[in-house]
Amino acid sequence: MPSHAKLATFIVALSEESAFFGQVTKQEYVMRTVFWDYETNETKMIDQRLLPEAYEIVSFQRYADVGTAITDMVIRGAPAIGAAAGFGMALAAQESRASDLVSLRADLQSAADILRVARPTAVNLAWALDRILGVANSFEGSTDDLREAMLKEAQLIADEDVEINKRMAEYGAALIEDGDTIIHHCNTGSLATVDWGTALGVIHTAHEQGKNIHVLVDETRPRLQGARLTAWELKEYGIPFDIISDNMAGHFLYTGQVQRVVFGSDRTAANGDVVNKIGTYMLSLAAKDNDVPAYAVVPTSTIDLSLAHGGLIPIEERGQEEVLSLELLGRKASPVGSTARNIAFDVTPHRLVTAIVTENGVVYPPFDLNLKKVVENK
Ligand code: MRU
Repeated sequence: MPSHAKLATFIVALSEESAFFGQVTKQEYVMRTVFWDYETNETKMIDQRLLPEAYEIVSFQRYADVGTAITDMVIRGAPAIGAAAGFGMALAAQESRASDLVSLRADLQSAADILRVARPTAVNLAWALDRILGVANSFEGSTDDLREAMLKEAQLIADEDVEINKRMAEYGAALIEDGDTIIHHCNTGSLATVDWGTALGVIHTAHEQGKNIHVLVDETRPRLQGARLTAWELKEYGIPFDIISDNMAGHFLYTGQVQRVVFGSDRTAANGDVVNKIGTYMLSLAAKDNDVPAYAVVPTSTIDLSLAHGGLIPIEERGQEEVLSLELLGRKASPVGSTARNIAFDVTPHRLVTAIVTENGVVYPPFDLNLKKVVENK
């Protein structure tokens, strides 16, 4: 049995044991946000909508349902979305009844077209689909062999993600000093990737290196990825933290209580403009104004060299209920009948970014020259 199959079995057993209402307190667990179950031939993922109240694994037999899960944020975070799309394609290959390569490739192309539009901003989705389609289109062999090749490639994308995150975390942790207080935005941990994470991976590695760090966790309105998911992960890892509302970050920076700001990215343009969860721009502005370094932690799969600047990156706008559903002390926080805007990401111009940490090293300005080198691994 391959090791990921054992892992999958373990996670399923764990989820059965720990899926309950009330705070999840499991200290010892192995977590892969998304994985293939080799016993049932299904894609499985942690349902992130339920954390921190409940830890549940959901199973998918159909690629279209994986697409819906991405849209509905059962799974979210740029690299995790990419890996989920990869396993979605493995399901599509399995679902297809095609008996010749041309028809199977056509089925895979239509599945990719459906998965591609599940969310617009994170480039990892398109990146993973193009990588899988590349394998399909250059494949020679039987249809069953192609089905197997699709799963193999999806598994590779997932496994590589973990390895890349660990490398990136080593580079990033070298930028963190003992005693630092760090502001972290959104969720960039194991849950936003296959495992380990991007910016939170850096924090995790710095902590494992014995550095005494404290994290101020932006709660990240409106979906509260910081308060719900990052805080849950930090608690699991034993890393000291306080949750702050997003609009407190400026105060902590101005009063000299913060030494580093770290965040991830859903897509970074060729000039180093970083598109990330809404609020990153204001956080970076306040960091710059107070001479606090702001680091974007970005795997090369999230860098889109085809787009010259961040203004060209599609920005998702989600339903207004995510903003309007807020309650305070059990009561609705806005007048009945209010309307809202819900912009999910913003562009942080590259002049506000101190450095971009990738799996191939730390990139400093000029980003337009240096990002290209790191993507091509020169
Ligand atoms: O809307 P989400 O939760 O998918 O947004 C995710 C983020 O913004 C993360 O910070 C991001 O994917 C970058 S690092 C994994």
